Amino acid sequence: MRSQLFATKPLQLLLDEMAGEHRLRRVLGPVSLTALGVSAIIGTGIFVLTGIAAHDKTGPALMLSFVVAGVACIFAAMCYAEFASMVPVAGSAYTYAYATLGELLAWIIGWDLLLEYAVASSTVAHGWSKYFQNFLDQLGVHLPAVLTNAPFDYHPDTGLLALTGTWFDLPAVVITALITVVLVIGIRESAGFNAGIVLFKLLVVGFVIVVGAFHVDPANWHPFAPYGLTGISFFGKTLFGQTGVAGEPLGMLSGAAIIFFAYIGFDSVSTHSEEARNPQRDVPIGIIVSLVLCTVLYIAVAAVLTGMVPYDQINIDAPVSDAFRQAGLPWARFLISLGAISGITSVLLVMMLSQARVLLAMARDGLLPVEFFGAVHERFRTPHKATLVTGLFVAAVAAVVPLRVLAELVNIGTLLAFVIVCGAVLIMRRTHPDASRPFRAPFVPLVPILGMASCALLMFSLPAENWLRLAIWLAIGLTIYFSYGRHHSVMAQYLRNEMRRHGVSPAGAPANKTRL
Ligand code: ALA
Repeated sequence: MRSQLFATKPLQLLLDEMAGEHRLRRVLGPVSLTALGVSAIIGTGIFVLTGIAAHDKTGPALMLSFVVAGVACIFAAMCYAEFASMVPVAGSAYTYAYATLGELLAWIIGWDLLLEYAVASSTVAHGWSKYFQNFLDQLGVHLPAVLTNAPFDYHPDTGLLALTGTWFDLPAVVITALITVVLVIGIRESAGFNAGIVLFKLLVVGFVIVVGAFHVDPANWHPFAPYGLTGISFFGKTLFGQTGVAGEPLGMLSGAAIIFFAYIGFDSVSTHSEEARNPQRDVPIGIIVSLVLCTVLYIAVAAVLTGMVPYDQINIDAPVSDAFRQAGLPWARFLISLGAISGITSVLLVMMLSQARVLLAMARDGLLPVEFFGAVHERFRTPHKATLVTGLFVAAVAAVVPLRVLAELVNIGTLLAFVIVCGAVLIMRRTHPDASRPFRAPFVPLVPILGMASCALLMFSLPAENWLRLAIWLAIGLTIYFSYGRHHSVMAQYLRNEMRRHGVSPAGAPANKTRL
């Protein structure tokens, strides 16, 4: 069994699988991939979470929070890009881990990616709902209050969870259902739909920066860091910085750990390697260009937002559009709500698309039931069943779990995935120095080490209960692996056959027999 847990999937096996039947269509070039990246990145993070972060944790130092989180992501992005160029198949970090760290860690990371994509989609659907309701308000339309939010949420005075008096978030469920239908129909249609939305979203963000700049009052940037420039705790004990009402860390770094959510998505480009026309070149381009572009835009939006409105008056639900209302530009509020709604829609689209691709990759390896998750629709050529399950999960979670809880859980899970990917690059450079790397992360080992350190720092800047939630999530995942995946793994079958062929007993099998 030990040999199976740590056995790695040979690179050639991965590449051979790509030549088989039932592949996804190769239709995406560098511009489409960069557009996919931007469409997955700019969404609920910048349009919604900036309000919570600036108001409760950072003040104007939110600008620096975006710099810190952006730099951590750029280190991780370099590592993702190296892997995406080496192993250009669907599955992203999951596939990389399988090729380098073995089946057990691959499963852990695949399970972790569920947090990053599916649970993030639920978070994003909530953000969509907030701007949609904001938009309806402007038209004088109000949904029944019981259908507007999760049934429990943070109570601002205590920092603890309390009942909201609502039943569930109906708009979040409806948008998830619509996106699921679009995704089942197919990637070509999805990519075209996506490009139009990305353009509109970029125009609206550009509008916020340029028009907002004329309404900045530099006095609002003082004090710059009312909660301090740190915010780190070690399992509930604050090490650096101030502590909030519920014991959570406050300050610029704790803000970075929250708005890290705004950067999630650049790596989803790598889940589309299988649909890329020239994955070795174009996937690294898509990852890095989309991330750098968004980092610059985010820092500018944070500067404008905190310059337009005193940090303690920033709205928590729809901060960007509300800043323009406070500035006396109600028409701009209308445009921004539309931009946020369409922009967040595209995030949901790419995130859910990526989730289905990861499930597909895991099913092909036998770690999930392949007849179900591995099924590709005859006509649409999409993993329709994996997409439908993703849609159901996202809608159910978005209906009842509050945005802030989801965002923090997603962040800690994604940060862990980034730490593992950076570590895997280091391992691969040692174990397979001669493997072909069309894109090489610069300054190795420095960049992966800084990637691991900065992501770990952000994990410790999140409220401590997230570690417990992450541990519970991983425990559920391990239970599924040991009760299903371990017994159905294609890799295990391969190992057994090899042993039989060589007349070796399972206990004596070398762990690295199948390394690249
Ligand atoms: N980065 C994505 C967003 O902010 C997940 O919505």
